[in-house]
Amino acid sequence: MPKAELHLHVEGTLEPELMFELARRNGVSLPYDSVEAVRRAYVFSNLQSFLDIYYAGCCVLLKEQDFYDLTWAYLTRAAAQGVRHAEIFFDPQTHTDRGVPFETVVTGIHRALEDGRARLNITAGLILCFLRHLSEEAARRTLDEALPYRDWILAVGLDSSEVGHPPGKFKNVYARARDAGLLAVAHAGEEGPPEYVWEALDVLKVRRIDHGVRAIEDERLVERLVQERIPLTVCPLSNVKLRVFPNLESHNLKQLLDRGLLVTVNSDDPAYFGGYVADNFGASAAALGLSREQLLTLARNSFVASFLSDQQKRAHLDELARISAQPSLKTIS
Ligand code: ADE
Ligand code: ZN
Repeated sequence: MPKAELHLHVEGTLEPELMFELARRNGVSLPYDSVEAVRRAYVFSNLQSFLDIYYAGCCVLLKEQDFYDLTWAYLTRAAAQGVRHAEIFFDPQTHTDRGVPFETVVTGIHRALEDGRARLNITAGLILCFLRHLSEEAARRTLDEALPYRDWILAVGLDSSEVGHPPGKFKNVYARARDAGLLAVAHAGEEGPPEYVWEALDVLKVRRIDHGVRAIEDERLVERLVQERIPLTVCPLSNVKLRVFPNLESHNLKQLLDRGLLVTVNSDDPAYFGGYVADNFGASAAALGLSREQLLTLARNSFVASFLSDQQKRAHLDELARISAQPSLKTIS
């Protein structure tokens, strides 16, 4: 089934096999002695316990070619899962703070996205995320480094440790980014309270909320999100791995859909959370008993919620309509 992926951290697609290959290529030593040992270490108690391991894994990414290989590996997997368009997060500060130039990071990723368009027929946009556990001043320096590459960047986002780092902390840097013509999104309501979702909307003026599952705790907020058609980019397998929900059966994806929210399904950090986007569709459908119509709604929402032009959205929605009308369609994720 054709779909867009709107919540995907490129650093979160680093599979242990590639981690080892890059470590060997770059002479970096890893605190694991096998691919299996890495996978065994991926047991998390919350967001922070994941982030500690995720940032440590990035130490193998040093050269432009490493960023190219990482991004290309994701695109080939995504193509095999029906992804036609991806809006991809990257965390420049995770690399620049280790001495890797911004140019190295963005050039490697951008080159792979161009090849993805030419060779895999996947369109893509890049979303520069600020790390919210760092200062607004550090975010501003990162934005300044990014502006020479303005044409390669679609939007800014906000990720990393949520609780204790409300969106309002980044008010000024988001205003600068919007002045430069960048769109805005932010992680909010993953572990943090509904107030963070309000703040992302009112202070950062975001166009989408990443995660947002805790919005359901605030009736007025749900009404606003429905009324303004603000998308939530939900990541079911991530939420279970990071213990936002105890299991997929108790995830609120179906409730969010039933409330009329513009929900999408995404993979977040698939190398760490046990599945790419079609795996998230399949596992959610099985655990929550989603109907064929609900799965189609999720696929349609992924294009509607994207930053594609209306004409591009229409072309994808038409393709989806054609495919879903085929009587032979049995598996749709
Ligand atoms: N960085 C990578 N994945 C993240 C997530 N799920 N939440 C916040 N920051 C992240
Ligand atoms: Zn995320």
